[in-house]
Amino acid sequence: MKIEVRPLAEFTTLGVGGEAEIWTVETPTDLVEATKAPYRVLGNGSNLLVSDRGVSERVIRLGGVFAAADLGQSRSQTHVTPWLGAGALLPNLVQEARQKGLSGLEPLFGIPASLGGAVRMNAGTRFGEMADVLEAVEIFKDGAFYVYHPSELGFGYRRSQLPPGGIITRVRLRLTQRDPAEIEARLRQVDQARKGQPKRKSAGCAFKNPAGDSAGRLIDQAGFKGLRAGGAMISREHGNFVVNTGGARAADVWQLVKRIQEVLPLELEWEIWGELP
Ligand code: FAD
Ligand code: EPU
Repeated sequence: MKIEVRPLAEFTTLGVGGEAEIWTVETPTDLVEATKAPYRVLGNGSNLLVSDRGVSERVIRLGGVFAAADLGQSRSQTHVTPWLGAGALLPNLVQEARQKGLSGLEPLFGIPASLGGAVRMNAGTRFGEMADVLEAVEIFKDGAFYVYHPSELGFGYRRSQLPPGGIITRVRLRLTQRDPAEIEARLRQVDQARKGQPKRKSAGCAFKNPAGDSAGRLIDQAGFKGLRAGGAMISREHGNFVVNTGGARAADVWQLVKRIQEVLPLELEWEIWGELP
């Protein structure tokens, strides 16, 4: 186990956030130790806005056995994978599935997430979401591991209801064998839908889409694109992305979020860690 005090800006895709004590756990014993004081769980840090003052809780990262994942070899049309470590990176699993002719993860192509973070957020695109391919989820809480059926975890659009303090430690997926050419075609389609998104540092879409509409379109229509606060800017490419143009602080990003919310009743998709001004 590694324990270090680091700025969370180094662990978030937006590149923002103050210091915290980071506990990288590698074994179940580490996990028991790490959860003996108040904690938060960090995945790939791609849906987080972290305060410039950091957080006082321990920040747990899943390494070692919790990051090991191999989709295994399919022996039938429907392939239920072995248990996959929740700290594994989703893009690696999407690539492994592609190479093995396993279908199901294509809608998640291009989402920078840990497997656990993708389950927690029920990450997805208009083509499908994480919950669609879940077979079982292992969750650690109060010093023990429990297995849940996906129907018990309250999945919805970018939403789940995990037991309080629950840490997703392992996941089994249900995939299907498919013609590789069909998988490639589906990947291209998903990739195409992402073309309008900025390449700069961001945390993905800031807001959830309201039913039947697009937050990005509404922000665009309200004339917010290109608006800046310090090093943060509402992307000129896609209204629902706030980008770090260099040296952005959480306070800058938050100012833009509040400005938008003064005008549009949008629900935040990001998770907020710590106190924002
Ligand atoms: P983090 O951001 O680290 O954490 C998010 C939340 O999950 C936190 O509350 C954290 O405590 C919790 N969490 C993380 N791991 C665990 C665990 N093991 N157990 C319990 N709780 C946990 N999202 C989409 O849905 N669709 C997209 O198309 C999409 N595109 C994106 C594009 C870009 C360029 C970026 C930067 C982000 C995008 N996102 C998208 C947002 C983001 O990738 C997803 O929300 C993703 O699921 C976050 O996963 P993560 O591992 O980074 O979680
Ligand atoms: N639009 C504009 N102006 C903009 C942005 C979008 O007019 O600045 C219009 C587009 O032209 C399009 C519509 O709004 O007609 C929808 O836009 P887009 O296709 O980009 O999809 P989105 O609804 O903005 C959603 C997800 C993304 C996901 C894409 C692709 C949400 C909040 N966003 O974006 O997910 O990658 O679809 O499937 O659900 C995320 O959740 O972080 C995320 C990036």
